[in-house]
Amino acid sequence: MFSALPDQPEDKILKLMQMFREDPREQKIDLGVGVYKDPDGKTPIMRAVKAAEKTLWETETTKSYVALAGAPEFNDAMVALVLGDAVPRAEAACVATPGGTGAVRQGFDLVKLGRADATVWYSSPTWGNHVSILKHMNVAHKPYRYFDAATGEVDFVGMIADLATALPGDVVLLHGCCHNPTGANLTHAQWRQVVELLNERDLIPMIDIAYQGFGDGLEEDAFGVRLVAAECPETLIAASCSKNFGVYRERTGALMAVSRGGADTVRAQKSLAYLNRQNFSFPPDHGARLVSMILTDEALKADWMAELEEVRTGMLALREQLAAELKRLTNSDRFDFIARHRGMFSMLGLSSEEMDVLRESHGIYGVSDSRINIAGLNSRTVPLLAKAVAEVVGG
Ligand code: LMR
Repeated sequence: MFSALPDQPEDKILKLMQMFREDPREQKIDLGVGVYKDPDGKTPIMRAVKAAEKTLWETETTKSYVALAGAPEFNDAMVALVLGDAVPRAEAACVATPGGTGAVRQGFDLVKLGRADATVWYSSPTWGNHVSILKHMNVAHKPYRYFDAATGEVDFVGMIADLATALPGDVVLLHGCCHNPTGANLTHAQWRQVVELLNERDLIPMIDIAYQGFGDGLEEDAFGVRLVAAECPETLIAASCSKNFGVYRERTGALMAVSRGGADTVRAQKSLAYLNRQNFSFPPDHGARLVSMILTDEALKADWMAELEEVRTGMLALREQLAAELKRLTNSDRFDFIARHRGMFSMLGLSSEEMDVLRESHGIYGVSDSRINIAGLNSRTVPLLAKAVAEVVGG
C-alpha cells in the first residue's frame, strides 16, 4: 500500500526552513517562516509565559484529560481576547484546537458538516496552507482578488467584484489582521463594506486571526473580526496563540462559531466538540493553560501586553528602517509600502528567480513569492537586506 502513496507537494515555507538550517554560511538571514526573532536572532519565551509555566509546574496535580472542548477558562479568555464585548459570551461557541492551523482545519470541517456544497473563497494570495488544506479535504474553493502588486495595496475593487459573484451560503475566508503573506490590510471603511456585501449576499465569513497584537495593537487588530461577528448572522473564527504568546510548538489555538445564541449556538458547540473527538480527541492543554493563566491574572496580563507591544513597535521600526534604506539605495518610492504595511510579513514584489539570487548569492532566505518575515530582521541586517535587494533589482 505504501508504494501506492502519491508524492505530496512540499510546503515551500517549511522547505525553506530546512534549507536555512542546512546552510553553513554564518551571515545567513532567515526571513522565511513566520516566527518572531529578537535582535539577537533568538525566539524568546515570553516573560509571562515563563512565569505561568513555573506556577503551573508548582501547582498542577494531574495530567488527566480536561474536556473535549478544552478548558472552559481558556475558551472564555480567548472569546474575550478576540471578541471583547462585541457579542455576548452566550453567542460564541468555542473549542480549543491544536494551534491556529487546527482551528482552520476544524472550521473547514464544520463547513463540510453544515453546508457541504459551499465554496470557500480565499484571498489571492493567501497563506499557502489554507489552499493546501482545502484541496486535501476536497472542499470547493476559489480565489478572490486581494492584492495589487503594482501599488503594494489591497485591490479592494477587485475583491468586492469577485465576492459579488459568490453564491448564497458560500464561505469567505478573511484574515483578521496582518494579512499573510502581503501585509496589506483592510481599512475600517473597507471592513464595513465587506460586512454589507456578506449580509447582502448571504455569505458566511470565516476569519483567520493569527497575529492579533502584531499590527496596530491588540484591540485595534480585532476591529474587523469584532465588526463581522456582531453584524453577520454567523461567523467562524480561527484564532492562534502561536505568535502573540510565542507558544508555537505548544499548538495553542481556538475555533469559535458565533451566531445569535440559543439552539444554533448550542448545536455549533456540540458540533465543534464532536469534530475535536473525531480528529484528535482532547486538544492540547499545556499552552492553552498558560494562555488562560496569563489572561486571567492582572500582573501577568500586563507584562504580556507590554512585551507584545515591544515586539510590535520593534517590527514597525524595522519596517520604517527598511523602507527608508530601500528608498535611498534604489532612489525610488517603489518600496514605500513596506512602512505602511502591518504585521510580520510584506511581499517585496520580486520574482522567484530574484528571490533565488537573494538566497544563493546573499544568504537571505525569503519565500519564493517574495514574502519576507519582518520580525526575522534586526537593525544590523536591514541594511544588508536593502543592499542585496537594491542589487538584485538593479538599483
Ligand atoms: C507562516 O506563515 O510562516 C507561519 O504561519 C508558519 C507556518 O506554519 O507556515
